[in-house]
This record gives sequence, structure tokens and C-alpha cells, in this order.
Amino acid sequence: MMLYESGIREIKTKLDILADESRISGKPSPINAIKSRIKTPRSIVGKLKRRGFPVTLQSMMDNLNDIGGIRVSCPFIQDIYTVADMLMRQSDLTLIEKKDYISRPKPNGYRSLHLIVLVPIFLAERTESIAVEIQIRTIAMDFWASLEHQLKYKAHSDMSEGLRERLKYCAESITRLDEEMQTIYKEIKSEECDEF
Ligand code: GTP
Ligand code: MG
Repeated sequence: MMLYESGIREIKTKLDILADESRISGKPSPINAIKSRIKTPRSIVGKLKRRGFPVTLQSMMDNLNDIGGIRVSCPFIQDIYTVADMLMRQSDLTLIEKKDYISRPKPNGYRSLHLIVLVPIFLAERTESIAVEIQIRTIAMDFWASLEHQLKYKAHSDMSEGLRERLKYCAESITRLDEEMQTIYKEIKSEECDEF
């Protein structure tokens, strides 16, 4: 678990540096907030069993990529790709999976960019590569995902088709808001340029 904590720390530092760089150069930061979590032993065991893997430490390290997780919320859609590109350019990180649920949202309306990267952790006598799952999304996408997650747990049984449709409608409204906010932002930026 210490290795996963270290992996999260490494990625967080990279994200903090990106935010600091923007701040110092007087530009708006592409990062709104960073949250992280480590999967609990109970949920690790549950997932290994569900997927039919042995319940051992080695099996956990080999088969689960989401023990260490980081969630980054960004102001605008384009910031998501700025953050992702910055991480993918770093020579010590190895991208092992990328899922773009923004260009191809999940059927329920979920949108987010997921990266799984391997981070080297330098120990006294060896180096371990640790997988970290990074979810990057706008504040609006994060709002939807957080509430959808809560509602899924509140609903005692599976949600009815009607409720699922309504949640998907909310996701689509949020997409329109995100796109309009981004357009407004771009127009303001181009007006700023015109002033010179
Ligand atoms: P699991 O990690 O087992 O869920 O499957 P996967 O590895 O195929 O994962 P995927 O990349 O699709 O999703 C991983 C994580 O993204 C989940 O653990 C959630 O945190 C988040 N996520 C994915 N789909 C949804 C969704 O429909 N709603 C919400 N709220 N979060 C989601
Ligand atoms: Mg996963």
C-alpha cells in the first residue's frame, strides 16, 4: 500500500507543478481540484474474487490497475487534454491504457478521460512499477458522476429505465453546458488577443 501511496504522490506532484507553472505565468490553471484514494482491502478482495483471480498480493499487483486512483477536475473540456498530454509526455510514465469516454460516452451518459499509467517507485534496493488510474474530467462531468454514483447506491434495486433515461438527459444537458462554457472562454480569449 505504501507503493501505491507513493505512486499517487508522484502523479500529484506532476499535477501540482503544472498548476504552479500556469499560476506563475499568469495563466488560468487547467486544474480545478485533485482528489485521490486507495482501494480498501475489502474492495480489493471483492474485486479479485469477482474476476476469478487468486487473492494474493502478487495477483493484486498483476491484475488490478485501480488500487491507486487520482481524480482531476478541470474548468474546461480542453484542459482535460492539456493535463493528459502533459502526463503522457513525461518520460518516466508508461501509458498502459487510455479510455476516452468524452469522445465516446458510456451508454448511461458517463463522460471522463481515463488513463492508467505505470509509475516507477525507487526504493532502497529496487525499483517497482506501480499502476495508477487517473480520471480527468470537467467540474460539470464530475458533478454528474458524483451524483449518479450516489443515486446508484441509494436506489435499492436496479434503476428503472425511466430513471436511467432522466439521468442520461442530465448528462446531455451538462455536455451542452461544458461546450458552451468552452466556446465563451475561447471568444473571451480571442477578444483579449484583438486588444493588442
Ligand atoms: P471497473 O474498474 O471494474 O469499474 O471497470 P473498468 O476497469 O473497465 O473501468 P472503467 O475505466 O470503465 O471505469 C473505472 C472507474 O471509472 C470506476 O471505478 C468509476 O470510478 C468510474 N466510472 C466508470 N463508469 C462510471 C459510471 O457510469 N458512473 C460513475 N459515476 N463512475 C463511473
Ligand atoms: Mg477499473
